[in-house]
Amino acid sequence: MSESYDVVIIGGGPGGYNAAIRAGQLGLKVACVEGRETLGGTCLNVGCMPSKALLHASELYEAASSGELNSLGVEVQPTLNLAQMMKQKDASVSALTKGIEFLFRKNKVDWIKGWARLEGVGKVSVSHADGSQSQLQARDIVLASGSEPAPLPGVAVDNKRIIDSTGALELPEVPGHLVVIGAGVIGLELGSVWRRLGSKVTVVEYLDRICPGLDTETATALQRTLAKQGISFKLGAKVVAAQSSDSGVELNIEAAAGGASEVLQADYVLVAIGRRPYTEGLGLENVGLSTDKRGMLGNQQHRSEVPGIWVIGDVTSGPMLAHKAEDEAIACIERIAGHAAEVNYGVIPSVIYTRPEVASVGSSEQALKEQGRAYKVGKFPFTANSRAKINHEAEGFVKVLADERTDQILGVHIIGPSAGELIGEYCVAMEFSASAEDIALICHPHPTRSEALRQAAMNVHGWAMQA
Ligand code: FAD
Ligand code: NAI
Repeated sequence: MSESYDVVIIGGGPGGYNAAIRAGQLGLKVACVEGRETLGGTCLNVGCMPSKALLHASELYEAASSGELNSLGVEVQPTLNLAQMMKQKDASVSALTKGIEFLFRKNKVDWIKGWARLEGVGKVSVSHADGSQSQLQARDIVLASGSEPAPLPGVAVDNKRIIDSTGALELPEVPGHLVVIGAGVIGLELGSVWRRLGSKVTVVEYLDRICPGLDTETATALQRTLAKQGISFKLGAKVVAAQSSDSGVELNIEAAAGGASEVLQADYVLVAIGRRPYTEGLGLENVGLSTDKRGMLGNQQHRSEVPGIWVIGDVTSGPMLAHKAEDEAIACIERIAGHAAEVNYGVIPSVIYTRPEVASVGSSEQALKEQGRAYKVGKFPFTANSRAKINHEAEGFVKVLADERTDQILGVHIIGPSAGELIGEYCVAMEFSASAEDIALICHPHPTRSEALRQAAMNVHGWAMQA
């Protein structure tokens, strides 16, 4: 006997669980199949949430241990209790994953525990932990199977001494020396966590810059800040060999272009060179679907090549971000329900949760140059923002890129305090096709960091008043 549904969703991450909840809200009979023990996918279990828990706690530890709190007249002498830091992170993660269980019950979503496999169009089998199998039927199937860390040939992750992001979220000790391979989001966020807790951190990056894709001026400012905090960068470098032992790892590093090699001794090595779509065991061949060279499933407005099978989130094209997966989940289910829906890929913000934070939306300056688009730049430094200054958090700037002729906002890049929260204003503005002048003429509360957003917009036309 197989249970029949309107929609079966494979994967319980931000793509899958949001799709399931929306389907339930729209009155569709829906099941979500998840192979992990808990819901929430990479994001809640081993991604966004545990990393932010450690970033928050380590930031407070550093504020106390670096003398920053003492300088404010709050005298403390902190001791690191790593086990407690990990325990509170795990407790928060557990509460969040249980929150999704609650939302499933509230929206009448059946959570099917096990690994799903496509057996044909409209047919899914599920292998359960006890070895049993069940069969599901559905008019529509949504693939939301997510992604996994990309492997680096020659540097095999054993999650003892050579770790991936999951290992870096649960190290039992503070490494003496942590080498991070890849100066992307994971490397910089988790590198920051361990540096704050006392590690020497060296980041080895293949390219001659950090964070490819990020506006270059903003990336350079971030690198300068992180270097000042004590992270060492080896740019334009590649790891050619790694020997792991019980006590550490010996790495051979060469210039990316080749040449003499150098030896680095590390206590732990974090491999963070990107993520790749996860489709193992999904049975794509049973429905005639295949992935591209990068392992990615294609989509046209969330439809795969096979009618009735949809794809969303990290397993398909676009940035591998939880809120992008969530947006696609909503649009996909609305379409399944026969409604009009669209994802605006031009307005998907991204945030790096270092200190200071970096947040971007829309085009970088380089992308506009490549497109040959005439644009104006308005910048404003946080050193001239009274709130940032009074809080001793005045590093960074806001940079607004606007069309030279129409003044429409094309891109915004913020490095500074609470950048991740601040970027939301510009996401709204860009969704409404606002001009820089619109932001310049909107009243912003004083004293807040958000005033820097307004001043940068004023500066698109050269009239920032406070710098
Ligand atoms: P996933 O979250 O990967 O979920 C897919 C789920 O499908 C998994 O739980 C998997 O077990 C399940 N699954 C796969 N195959 C099957 C199958 N055959 N049967 C049943 N279940 C299956 N993004 C942000 O936006 N902000 C952040 O701050 C952020 N921080 C991150 C930090 C780290 C360390 C990492 C690794 C990632 C981070 N991300 C962040 C990225 C974010 O986690 C992903 O973009 C997001 O989780 C993608 O959602 P998804 O639903 O597509 O896939
Ligand atoms: P990434 O794509 O952000 O960065 C990978 C870096 O590794 C790049 O700079 C790349 O040039 C470099 N690299 C690739 N091969 C290399 C090699 N052989 N040697 C040295 N360097 C090499 O990938 P990352 O950091 O692993 O993160 C994966 C994804 O997870 C990101 O794309 C992001 O979407 C998501 N994520 C998002 C976060 C956020 O939104 N705050 C936080 C963490 C992850």
